Amino acid sequence: MSIGGAVDSRSPSFHAVPVTDKPRTIRALLAATTPWLASRGVDGARTDAEILIAHALGLRRLDLYLDLDRPLDDDELAKARALVARRGKREPVAYLVGTRELWGLAFEVTPDVLVPRPETEHLIELALARLPVDVEGAVVDACTGSGCVAVALLHERPGLRVIATDVSNAACSVALRNGERHGVDDRLDVRLGDLLAPCADLKDVLAVVANPPYVREDERPSLAPELGFEPALALFGEGDDALGHHRRLLAQARPLVRPGGFLACEIGAEQGQHVCALPHEGFGDAIVSNDLAGRPRVACWPRT
Ligand SMILES: C[S@@+](CC[C@H](N)C(=O)[O-])C[C@H]1O[C@@H](n2cnc3c(N)ncnc32)[C@H](O)[C@@H]1O
Repeated sequence: MSIGGAVDSRSPSFHAVPVTDKPRTIRALLAATTPWLASRGVDGARTDAEILIAHALGLRRLDLYLDLDRPLDDDELAKARALVARRGKREPVAYLVGTRELWGLAFEVTPDVLVPRPETEHLIELALARLPVDVEGAVVDACTGSGCVAVALLHERPGLRVIATDVSNAACSVALRNGERHGVDDRLDVRLGDLLAPCADLKDVLAVVANPPYVREDERPSLAPELGFEPALALFGEGDDALGHHRRLLAQARPLVRPGGFLACEIGAEQGQHVCALPHEGFGDAIVSNDLAGRPRVACWPRT
């Protein structure tokens, strides 16, 4: 859209990119795309430009730099522009390229699942620290989404079985495919249902781990536009404090987890004090672990 002859900066159309001549090489396309994405408020515009252009051309990011003056044909240009235009509307890169890496593993990601976040590696790390390398037994991953936590644990602990639950049928399918993708599907049992309800047949599990939704509804207006593309079911917690899932997990996990086991949940950076006050019958006091910036990220309750 044009206002008084000027390009309207709110227009998401990538065709508003200020290039009269089409950028005919990788170098020129990168040079045009980076400031355009930055002008749309995209953090890390250069990185995103590289990822999207490489994806459109079927190349690795590094390959772009090995052939910067490679000419681009109309099809390649159209493909790259379509992806960049969507990123300009703040669609997450992971949905545009269909994968996201966590714990050094590439996971399939669709708009049905949360994009795995680096902070979830703290949950994986904490669980692994409490599960010896030669551990044998079962762990439940509630709220599995893409299955990234379940698959990472299975990848690191060959004697483990994981029962993963999610209320979203579509998320369960993605989790199953990620299990297959990483060759751990024979030890991954994905079950559709609310928190630990699908696990009524289990007892003596080593642990329950979960990254439940924990964003408060009143935070919605201040969230980055990217989060508007992610499933609300994956983001917003229950109740005013958004800790309803954590509360219910604490109540449901007791009969499932063997004494000496644990429940570990990811939490929001401002929720450290609140989780410590949650009722935890059958479990010891919460041990809250911080990230490198000193923000609380995981709460762990040892089963007494
Ligand atoms: C924050 S995402 C976490 C996904 C994945 N574990 C990760 O760490 O990236 C939360 C997931 O919980 C699921 N979920 C929401 N409410 C649930 C419930 N009551 N029972 C089971 N899963 C639920 C959502 O569908 C979503 O996939």
